[in-house]
Parts: sequence; structure tokens; C-alpha cells
Amino acid sequence: MSDPIYSPGLEGVIAGETAVSTVDEGLLYRGYSVEDLAEHVTFEEVAYLLLWGNLPKIDELSEFRKRLAAAAHVPGEIITALRSIPPEAPMMDVMRSGASLLAHWDPEVGDNSHAANVRKAERLLAQLPGVLAARARLLAGKDPVQPDPERGLAGNFLWMLTRRPPSERAEKGLDVSFILYAEHEFNASTFTARVIASTLADLHSAVTGAIGALKGPLHGGANERVLEVLQEVGTADKAEPWIRNALANKVRIMGFGHRVYKTGDPRAAYLKTLCAELAVETGHEDMERMADVIESIVRSEKGLPPNLDWPSARLYHYLNLAVELYTPLFVISRVAGWSAHVIEQLDNNRLIRPRSRYTGSGPRLWTPVDRR
Ligand code: CMC
Repeated sequence: MSDPIYSPGLEGVIAGETAVSTVDEGLLYRGYSVEDLAEHVTFEEVAYLLLWGNLPKIDELSEFRKRLAAAAHVPGEIITALRSIPPEAPMMDVMRSGASLLAHWDPEVGDNSHAANVRKAERLLAQLPGVLAARARLLAGKDPVQPDPERGLAGNFLWMLTRRPPSERAEKGLDVSFILYAEHEFNASTFTARVIASTLADLHSAVTGAIGALKGPLHGGANERVLEVLQEVGTADKAEPWIRNALANKVRIMGFGHRVYKTGDPRAAYLKTLCAELAVETGHEDMERMADVIESIVRSEKGLPPNLDWPSARLYHYLNLAVELYTPLFVISRVAGWSAHVIEQLDNNRLIRPRSRYTGSGPRLWTPVDRR
């Protein structure tokens, strides 16, 4: 074996093989560019592609949709549990608990075969939107809304959240964001899921752990922080002094930078156009101008391009979604990618167990407690 290498944060380390996606030349999901997918297909087709390996044929898509609709109901016991979680609990903690609770009602929780894991992944994909919508409604003093079997995942989430048929624009905008969020190679939460799967633990455990990793502001939690920053800045005319002051004070600007993409995140570039159109349609031109000022100064002063969380926060705001839903919406989408990675890991498993470089004390002799 060659000398062990050490790279803080595992930067640049190839920690495994995957056929699910690559970020080497743009972002490809199983060979398809994410822009092409966002332009032409639905999130259901992308989820199928990630879980099954190919885009579905017409009959495969219709059967997949039927399976999702049949699995979308969230068990009453879980709704009861959601009611009992203290109202101040962060929504991502509730999603983490929700994924964990769903395991108890999944008939195949202990079956780690490829086929059972695909079935469980489909059920999680179908059920997590209902968990989020139910919790949001319970917090607002309203009863949960049953899923509508005729709607896709994005439209159904909006339906279950508001009990109103969503506009085409809202459904399409959310669907595109789900496509862009669905998968991203060995990011922190996916790697977490793969580490858990590599011990031969079950899919629900891997997804529950992944949600915990996604919550952090350096990863999925960034999209909520982005909106908080834009709201703190307030108006476009305050953007330049605000960002120059923040950069001078070495503040980390949420929604900028990326471990892998150094010249730009293709997902952010794609969503920026949609965001700008939606801003005009919904009367948010000032926020869009504010974002443009901040973006151009962070680029020119720090050389940092925006990542997906920068436009997605605005998109969700323009769709009138509450900020505490933003990172959970990332969960609803990324569960497709996490599951595809767990299944791939188990198809060719080896326990993930790296080494550490020891920085602690040299050998020491034990002393009795009264002489320490
Ligand atoms: N604002 C200001 N400075 C930054 C930023 C930022 N957003 N990102 C990196 N830097 C600076 C950092 O201060 C450091 O400078 P110096 O060398 O002078 O100390 C240098 O760039 C390298 O930073 P790093 O943290 O070592 O780089 P990394 O590869 O670990 O960072 C990152 C990746 C995403 C954690 C980081 O860019 C960041 O914290 N961004 C803000 C949070 C964010 O938007 N996260 C979402 C990531 S993409 C979607 C997702 O996966 O959720």
C-alpha cells in the first residue's frame, strides 16, 4: 500500500466510485446534463432515472406515478407524533425524526436487498412531502391535507401545504428546483448516507443521518440563511455598502463558493434565469437587483461564484414559501440521490472506514485517582 494521504475535509480525495452522477464537466445525472433534464422532464422522471438507472418509458412512468400515489399517505401514528413535537423544533429536526419514524411503519425496513431498497426509496420519496406539509399545517393550527393521487410530487406538496390547487408557475418552479437539488455526487450528506449504508444498516437510517448532515449551514442549511441575508439587507440601494462591509469583516457569505465548482455552479446559472422571470411576474424586481449587486461584488472582490442555494432561496421566496421550508424542500428532492447512492453502495459494498492522523499525547502512565 502507498503512503496514506491526508487532505483536510477530504478535499480532492476520491472516496469511492459512482455511476449516479458526476461534477467533472458540468453536472450529469447518469449521463444527462442537469440543464437538459430541468428543461425537458419532470422531477418524477429524474427520481426514476436516479433510482432505476434510465429515464422511464411512458408505461414505466405511469406505473411509477401510481406507486408514488399509493405510498403517499403518511400513517396516522406519525401525524400524532408530529403533533407532539414542541412547536419550536426546527423543521429539519422534524424531517429527520419523520424519516426515522417512517421506518417503523415500512413493511420492508429490515430487508437490505436491491429490490427492497428501491421500493423503500420510492416510499420515502412519496411520504416525506406529506410529513413536511402536515407539520407546517399543524403549526398553523390546521389539519393535514390528504395527498391527491392525480398530482406530481411538487404539485402535491403545494396542494397538501395550502389545500389549494397550485398555479402552473408555482408547480413548475418547485419541480425545477427539485430536479436541480436531486443529486450531487459525494457531497457531505450523500457521503454520510453511504458511510451508514456501508455498515449494512438500513436505508431509513442512512437517509435519517443524511438529513442531519444536510441541516448544517455549510451544506443544505445555506438556502435559508441566504433569504435571511437578503431580508436583512432590505433593498437594492443598501446592497453595495452591506456586502462591502461584510467582506471587510470576513463574513462568510451564504450561497457563495463551492468545494468542487471553482468557476461556477451550473445549477445556479440555470436557476438565475428562471428566478429573474419569476421576480418580474411576482413583483420582486428589487430583490433581484439586490441579489445582482451582491453577486457581482462577491465575484469581483473574492472570485467566488454563487452556488445553487443563492437563486433557490429567492425562487422559494417568490413562490411565497416560508423560509423554514427551504432546507426541508432540499430533503424532499435529495432523498432520490441519497437512496440511489445507498443502493449503489450496497451493490458493491465495502465498509467505509478511513484512518486518522493522531495529534494527541504520547504514551502516558496511569495514576490512581487521588494522585492525578
Ligand atoms: N464567503 C466568503 N468567503 C468564502 C466563502 C463564502 N461563501 N466560501 C469560501 N470562502 C473563502 C474562505 O473564507 C477561505 O478564505 P481564506 O483562504 O482566505 O481563509 C477560502 O474561501 C476557502 O474556504 P473553505 O471554507 O476552505 O473552502 P471550502 O471548499 O471548504 O468551502 C463551502 C466550500 C461551500 C463550505 C464554502 O464556500 C462556504 O462556506 N460557502 C457558504 C455556505 C454555502 O453556500 N453552502 C452551500 C454549498 S452548495 C449547496 C449545498 O451543497 O448545500
